[in-house]
Amino acid sequence: MITHDIIVVGGGLAGLRAALEAHLRGADVAVISKVHPIRSHSVAAQGGINASLGKDDSWEAHALDTVKGSDYLADQDAVEVMCRDAPGRVLEMEHWGTLFSRTPDGHIAQRPFGGAGFPRTCYAGDRTGHNLLHTLHEQVMRAGVKIYLEWLVTRLVVDKGRCTGLIAMHTPSSKLEVFGAKATVLATGGYGRIYQRSTNAIINRGYGISLAYHAGVPLQDMEFVQFHPTTLLGSNILMTEGARGEGGYLYNKLHERFMSIYAHDMMELAPRDIVARSIQTEIDEGRGFEGGYVHLDITHLGEKKIEERLGGIRQISIDFAGIDPVKEPIPVQPGQHYSMGGVPCDVNGATPLDGLYAAGECACVSVHGANRLGGNSLLETIVFGKRAGEHAAGYVAGIAMPGESPYLDELDREKEAISQLMGEGGENFAVVRDELRSVMQQDVGVFRNRTGLQRAVDTVRMLRERGRNVRVKSSATSFNFELLNAIELKGMLELGQVIAEGALVREESRGAHYRTDFLERDDEQWLKHTLAYYAPVGPRLEYKDVTITQFQPKKREY
Ligand code: FUM
Repeated sequence: MITHDIIVVGGGLAGLRAALEAHLRGADVAVISKVHPIRSHSVAAQGGINASLGKDDSWEAHALDTVKGSDYLADQDAVEVMCRDAPGRVLEMEHWGTLFSRTPDGHIAQRPFGGAGFPRTCYAGDRTGHNLLHTLHEQVMRAGVKIYLEWLVTRLVVDKGRCTGLIAMHTPSSKLEVFGAKATVLATGGYGRIYQRSTNAIINRGYGISLAYHAGVPLQDMEFVQFHPTTLLGSNILMTEGARGEGGYLYNKLHERFMSIYAHDMMELAPRDIVARSIQTEIDEGRGFEGGYVHLDITHLGEKKIEERLGGIRQISIDFAGIDPVKEPIPVQPGQHYSMGGVPCDVNGATPLDGLYAAGECACVSVHGANRLGGNSLLETIVFGKRAGEHAAGYVAGIAMPGESPYLDELDREKEAISQLMGEGGENFAVVRDELRSVMQQDVGVFRNRTGLQRAVDTVRMLRERGRNVRVKSSATSFNFELLNAIELKGMLELGQVIAEGALVREESRGAHYRTDFLERDDEQWLKHTLAYYAPVGPRLEYKDVTITQFQPKKREY
């Protein structure tokens, strides 16, 4: 058995920031990750990170934009914390070495982003996540934090109402190991790959979220799934909102800048839920191009600016679509991008389960409500990663390391569960997974209605049944990807069910949850958070109030 005061699950920005903070505060902390930290999905974040650095900007203006963008579902006390902490966290990253792009007079450059009343998105070209992640990884290396690479966490250990560590599989050897900890921090990212079209890395299967669900923690607001408006046709790789922030236009096949119909004032820089719906409407009503896409045109920006500020998406467009955005418009369509819901926690990362913390995309603080603004995701990782690390370090200082007894039973249970997965016959994980992706894409997407959602609920229930019959034929003892996929499939199916059932029950349109059969937001009935509790057949749904402080709900206009 391996023990640490704190184990952080996930080596992306939130996890590394939590680990660094806990270390700086004297805790014995380790990171455990499926992949090397610099291959975590944070590396793919492009357009930037929000902070009110401008002299005419303020954290209050940032908070208002965030709350309005969230369609008033965000908890406003949490939003206030995030927006107040933002400048300090961003400047700290700069001092640690992040190479932000600069204004001519040497300040951190900031670009306009969707739904923001002020250009407050700091950026490093269009490789902001890459730059931030390398900076934090360097700091964690410098601090000497232990990192367990290529381990899949398969279950959390809960003893007498407290999370006391986890069981994980070392993927190079397929060995199961017990990790004891006084506190565990989940920083495992999102679940994008339960959809067919997603900007997410293939590692983003939501398994960390399902670990908490199984440990008895309810999942919050999972029906709110963000679709990024501009993903590259074919691969669905992100084409950053920064392209529109720098002045890019969206055109339909009639060469109309159609955003003038949907968001007359903010046009292409309306919030993502609105732009994604607008593009999908153009496609559905026959004004998109054959194959289901519209054009993102940045040709007028010129090669110099494109290279300097959008060089990453230029190269991706050339490599993955054979299109050079300097010369031609980019074919784009909406794709799943981000999870507004997740493991509920307070502003210090504490979840309802004693000893368990969460930060980053897997968490739901909730600062994004029903729709996240671009640039607030990177921000959330470093603000709430730091806070979770700080709080966890304080928590572990006052308690003893749990004894050995609960772990051995859990380890035996896990060995048994894995041996039951092995064998001939049964279902292939990929067939079940692909059917899940297909129904989520078709029926739990940008537009939703009762018929489609009911079909999704029924299909996912049936797929969960079939999922119990998945068998792993490969007996490889090193990097058995069939086994790893089969283990994670169970969580993917459960999350799909939570999302679809929550969406079916929520009979209103709010942010990214848009019901064509309930077009209006209904604050009287639905200004509340969903909590989905694990039960063997499917989630039990409960609701809780939203915290409103300074911004009373209003109609969103852009
Ligand atoms: O479009 C983008 O660059 C994405 C940013 C974000 O999701 O925050």
